[in-house]
Amino acid sequence: MPSGIKNASILTEYLLQFTQTNKRYTNMLMITGGAGFIGANFVKDWLAQYDEPVLNLDKLTYAGNLSSLAALQGDTRHVFVKGDIADRSLVRQLLSRHRPRAVLNFAAESHVDRSIHGPQAFVDTNVTGTFQLLESVRDYWSELSRQEQQAFRFLHVSTDEVFGSLYPTEPAFTEVHPYRPNSPYSASKAASDHLVRAWHHTYGLPVLTTHCSNNYGPYQFPEKLIPLMILNALSGKALPLYGDGQQVRDWLYVKDHCAALRRVLEAGSPGETYNIGGCSERTNLQVATTLCTLLDTLCPRAEGGSYAAQITFVKDRPGHDRRYAIDASRLESELGWKPAETFESGLCKTVNWYLAHQPWVDDVTSGSYRHWVTQHYGEGEPSCPAS
Ligand code: NAD
Ligand code: DAU
Repeated sequence: MPSGIKNASILTEYLLQFTQTNKRYTNMLMITGGAGFIGANFVKDWLAQYDEPVLNLDKLTYAGNLSSLAALQGDTRHVFVKGDIADRSLVRQLLSRHRPRAVLNFAAESHVDRSIHGPQAFVDTNVTGTFQLLESVRDYWSELSRQEQQAFRFLHVSTDEVFGSLYPTEPAFTEVHPYRPNSPYSASKAASDHLVRAWHHTYGLPVLTTHCSNNYGPYQFPEKLIPLMILNALSGKALPLYGDGQQVRDWLYVKDHCAALRRVLEAGSPGETYNIGGCSERTNLQVATTLCTLLDTLCPRAEGGSYAAQITFVKDRPGHDRRYAIDASRLESELGWKPAETFESGLCKTVNWYLAHQPWVDDVTSGSYRHWVTQHYGEGEPSCPAS
């Protein structure tokens, strides 16, 4: 958040702007978790492309950051409300007042390491929160006209982690891969997916579920691998790789993910699930070395030599999934989406973004994040937070 501006004043300001606007909009989206990494990218990209307002409900946990939305200050199409998806009375009120044509659920506790240390918040938001949100939405939806009911969508943003871990030669996850979640995070996401599915089959709620792979790009909180590595490299700290660094993830540039979500919202069939991947499987060691090579060119070390010298192998994450890979061919063949960025082009954009946005970095690396890093990585040599 720009220094000196507090949440409450931003909220009041947005609400005031919204009520003062002369323009009447017939359609609106409700986004939950829109101050987080993917949600904020989605909201900004949406408003850059469409003249359809967004109601953004976010609890502003440590991962929610209004400075990621600072460019929207003064834009009356963005209505921000600080609140919990589990708060039925608030959500019901917001739905009645703003009458969105769709709800996109990004809100979640999203970091695997944190789920290992403290699973309660994951069950509270990802399971109970999704349940409460579904019930609020079902109440609202059931009172819509038949035509509005048919047009309505509840899009639930899930993850490839619900499918568990793949062996090196196994084919990538398709939409029908069995669920085998291994961490408290992925188990809580799997539970939420099952609730969403059941609300469609039992009550007819028109839901869409997406499973995406590891996102990276602007505004990602630096507890996740790529921003953590960029910022540690630049500040001369170690680049901690868990275990042998041979775990594989399929990297998806966040703006490609947002484009896929827009397409699923527009043309996905209710009750169906869609995989979204980046076609970019890399080991964590490959990610780290590619990043170091990029930084060596874009921002050479003052003392000379490569940033790769800062790579350190640390104790592994408990229950660490070895490999994720997404088969996104359904999305390509049925809805015509495929990623625009390669891993190399997306990573280059991401590194340049972090280099150019020091105030955002300073903002998120203060406060609770610093406390988490000190508590779990310690002040000295880095180790896996779960060690
Ligand atoms: P994030 O942690 O950056 O942001 C989550 C946002 O949700 C934050 O703004 C937070 O304040 C908000 N939030 C948390 N609990 C809430 C609650 N009870 N009520 C309202 N808001 C709440 O997460 P992200 O990386 O942007 O992920 C968004 C979604 O995408 C999540 O559902 C996540 O599981 C899923 N996902 C993420 C990735 C990834 O690589 N980041 C990959 C696959 C799926
Ligand atoms: O696959 C989708 C998932 O990707 C999302 O559902 C999650 O919300 C998101 O956090 C992400 O989960 P991962 O556990 O894969 O992401 P993370 O960035 O935490 O770690 C990526 C890989 O890098 C993983 O194998 C663990 C490893 N790692 C991570 C950190 C933070 C390290 O080796 N060192 C680190 O310091």
